[in-house]
Amino acid sequence: MQEITITKSSQSRASEVDINHIPMGISFTDHMFVCDYSEGQWKNARIEPLAAIPTHPSAMALHYGQAIFEGLKATMGKDGIPVLFRPEENAKRMNFSADRMGMPDFPEDLFVEALKQLIWLEREWVPTNEGSALYLRPFMYADEAYTGMRAATSFKFIIFATPTGPYFSRKIRLYAETRYIRAANGGTGEAKAAGNYAAAIRPTELAKAQGYDQVLWLDAQNFENILEVGTMNIFFKISGKFITPSLDGSVLAGVTRSSVIALLRHKGFEVTERVVSMKEILDASQNGTLEEAFGTGTAVGIAMIDEIGYRGQVIKMPESNPVSQDVNQTINKIKTQAVEDPFGWIVPVMEAQLV
Ligand code: COI
Repeated sequence: MQEITITKSSQSRASEVDINHIPMGISFTDHMFVCDYSEGQWKNARIEPLAAIPTHPSAMALHYGQAIFEGLKATMGKDGIPVLFRPEENAKRMNFSADRMGMPDFPEDLFVEALKQLIWLEREWVPTNEGSALYLRPFMYADEAYTGMRAATSFKFIIFATPTGPYFSRKIRLYAETRYIRAANGGTGEAKAAGNYAAAIRPTELAKAQGYDQVLWLDAQNFENILEVGTMNIFFKISGKFITPSLDGSVLAGVTRSSVIALLRHKGFEVTERVVSMKEILDASQNGTLEEAFGTGTAVGIAMIDEIGYRGQVIKMPESNPVSQDVNQTINKIKTQAVEDPFGWIVPVMEAQLV
């Protein structure tokens, strides 16, 4: 693995920010990790003071959208040592996205090591309040100046960090979209591609104008089956069993999604990944068998759902979500090392070489 060189900023701004009471993404830590790709190789891995990056007007990411990203959180663990949650999963998914978008793989060991070294340097930015965290945003984009259409040959991989409080502090309303789509099989829906989020912006603004928080995306053919939510995967509990849409080629494989599935099974619940239709959710809501409904994502954690608007109807979700509340608390406790981590998900950022 290549060495990471570190250039420290002259002064930290951490004391100027109330890191335990701040919404996501408005304040950024002092440093960033940067690595350059050219001539078929990742080079010059470095941590340096956070700064704007000069961009050529013909940088290919701006025109053809070769841009992908990840999101993960560092929380404060035992003894003041920050911990990461399953960072290897994000490293793997980043390379899955890179492959789909014709971009180079980034070494997975360097991905995790860069996170650890950046977080250790920024440890005074890691919040201690329950539900708060230091959100890490690794991303890659084509920075080659070229105007013709082909895969770029030069890229940047960057990680920056932003302290964040809870994304939602109340139950949320979802708008099941029957005009626009997020993804179709064979498209880029399984990748964490910037363009997927760009295409969601207009539909989300329209849903918000009607009082909803996020869009619930349905299948591209008939708008009948549920795929995922704006920044989340989705789960329902019907007659004692949990269901979530399967990863069918147009759903993002959420790290929180897979963790919730493992935790629910560990707690003795049956969880099935399969096609989930709007009709069965509507029926279950009406006949009283719908017991819980919630979204899962890195930024949002676990978000309870209040209602879903679908084809002019409002489908009421259950009042209380005892099992998902319990799962949420267990994950939060694992992330702060308040309970044992039976899954080996937690990765402390301080290792011998960093002490
Ligand atoms: C995340 O949960 O990390 C995401 O990527 C969602 C983001 C678009 C807010």
